[in-house]
Amino acid sequence: METLLLTVDEFVDNSENYTQAVDLLNNGEVVAFPTETVYGLGAVATDEQAVKKIFTAKGRPSDNPLIVHIGTIEEVEDYAVDIPEVAKKCMEAFWPGPLTLVMNVKPNVLAASVTPGMQTVGLRMPDHPVALNLLKVLKKPLAAPSANRSGKPSPTKAIHVFEDLQGIIPCILDGGMTGIGVESTVLDVTLDQPVILRPGGVTKEMLEQVIGSVLEPNFEQQKIESTPKAPGMKYTHYAPDAPVYLIDQDKNQIECAVEKLQQQQHKVALLAPQKFDDVNADYFFSFGDEHELEQMSGKLYDALRACDKTDATIILATVTERKGVGTAIMNRLEKAAGGNWYQQ
Ligand code: TXA
Ligand code: MG
Repeated sequence: METLLLTVDEFVDNSENYTQAVDLLNNGEVVAFPTETVYGLGAVATDEQAVKKIFTAKGRPSDNPLIVHIGTIEEVEDYAVDIPEVAKKCMEAFWPGPLTLVMNVKPNVLAASVTPGMQTVGLRMPDHPVALNLLKVLKKPLAAPSANRSGKPSPTKAIHVFEDLQGIIPCILDGGMTGIGVESTVLDVTLDQPVILRPGGVTKEMLEQVIGSVLEPNFEQQKIESTPKAPGMKYTHYAPDAPVYLIDQDKNQIECAVEKLQQQQHKVALLAPQKFDDVNADYFFSFGDEHELEQMSGKLYDALRACDKTDATIILATVTERKGVGTAIMNRLEKAAGGNWYQQ
């Protein structure tokens, strides 16, 4: 299968490219498109055969539910029931935006594979002109997980999607680099107290200002059986080929680590803020300005993917404080590292 890479930007008339994408979707095909978080691989969420193609293309376990993307808040009632007050407040405050709300699913509307054996559905209205325009022209909901092969970091550039799914999917809408760079916050609002199943761009602090106390289990608590989690969290995620070790943003410690590892014949890739570019690592991938967490989240997956193109045998990644989007960054870094820290 040939994979079309269609550029959609604000400077030219892209209506033909949208028409092509919408025709494919209406014919039961999958199309990759940018959102403000990461690229998604979409199919019409009411079309079972089309939704199944998402799982095949990604190599995704069939018991992992998909997020349904909608173009307006009004559509929520078409797919969810018992919509709680906190959900409405969240939609008003954060939609369109990087927040997925898990609510009770309306039976027999969405394709069964979207919510495999579940009573709930994750809904989100994305904040990206391309995603919103696609939904507006299509006038149907889009089931869309991140557009990577399962086990790879989520794509933040169209080329990442192309590398993973070339020849497997018919079309990618290229809207440039995504902004936030980590996936949406997944908030379960079906429980007495809302629980963050996956941290993202809408932070605990931001949510609590609107709906009061919210639970956010940490990496260790997530391992406990009774902690509510997103089904997808049990699968290994985001891991590059070489093992990743976390390290503090401490120049001296990083320099010692690199030297010691190189003495052990390792090729070391260092992922760190720009100011560490003079450390003598074999490869350096910048997280940008050390004080700009948004730069770090935006560059994280690109940097992890870049490591796979090198012959690095070990990856050192600097950590950040767990504040604001730093919580989401640390969540993804801890996964990539399997919780391992570099130890002298
Ligand atoms: O930013 C994002 O959320 C991106 C863009 C494309 O929108 N999408 C995304 O989808 O990251 P995916 O499939 O890669 O991750 C969705 C996560 C999975 O961990 C899944 O288990 C969880 O959300 N999830 C989906 N529906 C759920 C539900 N009903 N209950 C609990 N968790 C759910
Ligand atoms: Mg994903």
